[in-house]
Amino acid sequence: MKTIFSGIQPTAVFTLGNYLGAVKNWSEMQAENECIYSIVDMHAITVRQEPAKLRTQTMNSYALAMACGIDVERSILFVQSHNKNHAEMNWILSCSTQFGELSRMTQYKDKAQKHPDDVNAGLFTYPVLMAGDILLYQADLVPIGIDQKQHLELTRNVAERFNFRYGDFFKIPEAYIPTGGAAKIMSLQDPLKKMSKSDDNPNASVYILEPKDDIIRKFKRAVTDSGAEVRFAEDKPGVSNLMTIYSVFSGKTLDETEAEFAGKGYGDFKLAVGETVADALAPVRDEYNRLAADKDYLLSCMKTGAERAMKISEKTLKKAYKKVGFVV
Ligand code: TYM
Repeated sequence: MKTIFSGIQPTAVFTLGNYLGAVKNWSEMQAENECIYSIVDMHAITVRQEPAKLRTQTMNSYALAMACGIDVERSILFVQSHNKNHAEMNWILSCSTQFGELSRMTQYKDKAQKHPDDVNAGLFTYPVLMAGDILLYQADLVPIGIDQKQHLELTRNVAERFNFRYGDFFKIPEAYIPTGGAAKIMSLQDPLKKMSKSDDNPNASVYILEPKDDIIRKFKRAVTDSGAEVRFAEDKPGVSNLMTIYSVFSGKTLDETEAEFAGKGYGDFKLAVGETVADALAPVRDEYNRLAADKDYLLSCMKTGAERAMKISEKTLKKAYKKVGFVV
């Protein structure tokens, strides 16, 4: 059995990108592994958040992860700030991370550019907190979309540096990234840009709790490419993105999808994608509505999740304290 760790920020309802790139795999990996998943609220505050909204959104994200199939009996699902070991490990690892390597993180550069009035130290050291998340549980595999690959590589480098300095200790984790387009679902309005929770254009991202009609409307409006053929190709990023989405939800291969829409126009295809996605997500929406209505139950699951996470991570943190020479 392998140990799996991954996290998601509670900054908005998960997008189709979050779902196809990561959360769907989180759910599937539970069958054969020991899985630990976190709603990473500590990461979220590296960008200015409205406190009341963050609190609600953290509850909602927890319920949504459950609605997407995370079984809190079998796996551990917890809120990051409920386990103070993450903050403590962050400090230990900060002292094994170089300024230069953090400066090279593309997500830091992008976010610093997007929020020039708030280039805070947390935004800069964010990948160290993430490294701590993973290393605290000695994870073997980390299911992520491609945009987090650089952070995972940094995690490996930091772990190796720590191991070199203090003796073999951290397990070196591997990224688990979906093959094909699902590793990077693109914006519906600009297929050269990643679909993101924080896109200013509401038509760019599909959020997995949106009503059926809204989902269909967004797909109908999706930017496609010149020509009229439904074909997966590098020079057709819009259609290829939609084909990836359709293929995952319908269970059909790209070739089968191409054949299904041969001779039909983009209009038919976009409608089919919208309907397929909306129908596939209907059970997630229903389950979410059921769970979100029961705050007490969610709070009790959070508490148990945090206790279980703490128990595992406490051991790693204690050992790391010993390794670096603290009196424990
Ligand atoms: P976050 O919250 O931005 O995204 C959560 C997961 O969704 C994936 N993802 C995508 N996959 C495919 N296509 C897209 N358009 C797309 N957009 C997002 C992300 O790659 C991610 O896997 N730093 C992380 C959260 C984190 C974490 C961790 C992840 C904190 N600690 C430890 C793994 C392990 C983040 O901001 O993800």
